Amino acid sequence: MFQYTCLNPIANVGLDLLSDDYKKVEDLKDAQAVLVRSASMHDLDLPDSLEAVARAGAGVNNIPLDKCADKGIVVFNTPGANANGVKEMVLAGLLLASRDIVGGIEWIKESKDEADIAKLAEKQKKNYAGCEISGKKLGVIGLGAIGVLVANAATHLGMEVYGYDPYISVNAAWNLSRNVKHISNVEEIYKECDYITVHVPLLDSTKGMIDKNAIDMMKDGVVILNFARDLLVDEAAVVAALADKKVKRYVTDFPNPTTAGKEGVILTPHLGASTEESEDNCAMMAVREIRDYLENGNIVHS
Ligand code: MLT
Repeated sequence: MFQYTCLNPIANVGLDLLSDDYKKVEDLKDAQAVLVRSASMHDLDLPDSLEAVARAGAGVNNIPLDKCADKGIVVFNTPGANANGVKEMVLAGLLLASRDIVGGIEWIKESKDEADIAKLAEKQKKNYAGCEISGKKLGVIGLGAIGVLVANAATHLGMEVYGYDPYISVNAAWNLSRNVKHISNVEEIYKECDYITVHVPLLDSTKGMIDKNAIDMMKDGVVILNFARDLLVDEAAVVAALADKKVKRYVTDFPNPTTAGKEGVILTPHLGASTEESEDNCAMMAVREIRDYLENGNIVHS
């Protein structure tokens, strides 16, 4: 039997080896495999016993890849396992950026004790009017598991969808709806789209890709959505563009001091993959990957 260590809670998958939620770093001692969700492993000393690390999620920027490579430690992620959860969050983001649902709910909360609340609400509602996403153009940058699901779902909401991915896989292309316009130049997305959502991994080549130059090319009143990684976007440039009304809303799942509390920012606490289903899928895929590697030496995404 292997020794697993779970660095922070992944999910309640009903397996004994994961039920002991949070272990301290010292517990890595002698571990053959580590399962980790969002905790950073960059400052950890990796024990010589370690053979595999599995990230319960798609992004691996919390894993010290170079250190692992030097020590011959295999790193797994769980691509696609939480894609549906993130897709649904992006759809919610599109709607929240377009309809002031949160503002309306907050107003009701504050006014709940008013006797004539129904009458007041009728007067108030003009302050929360929004626009529809149907008929608007959505640009999806990155057509991996999540981007493809978002692109296809948005076509069903009546959006005109542009997809961009210079490395699109045959599988992703196959899964892409015929109604998504697959374009070869990201600038076309910047120039044409009313909503732009980013679904690429954080790499040296993608870091800060949505910068002032990119924003300057965009339509006035564009909405930018980021459920991938905050460093993909130059957020100081976005905040400045929000102040100038160049950008209408910035919807992001990554709280930090640059964006928190800023006018026009819709911020959630990294909830994209936080559904029962996504957590279970990621945890189970990660466990299967590690087991298959330690038992059979196979390196596969199950
Ligand atoms: C991912 O990389 O897939 C997400 O960050 C997963 C998560 O929220 O844990």
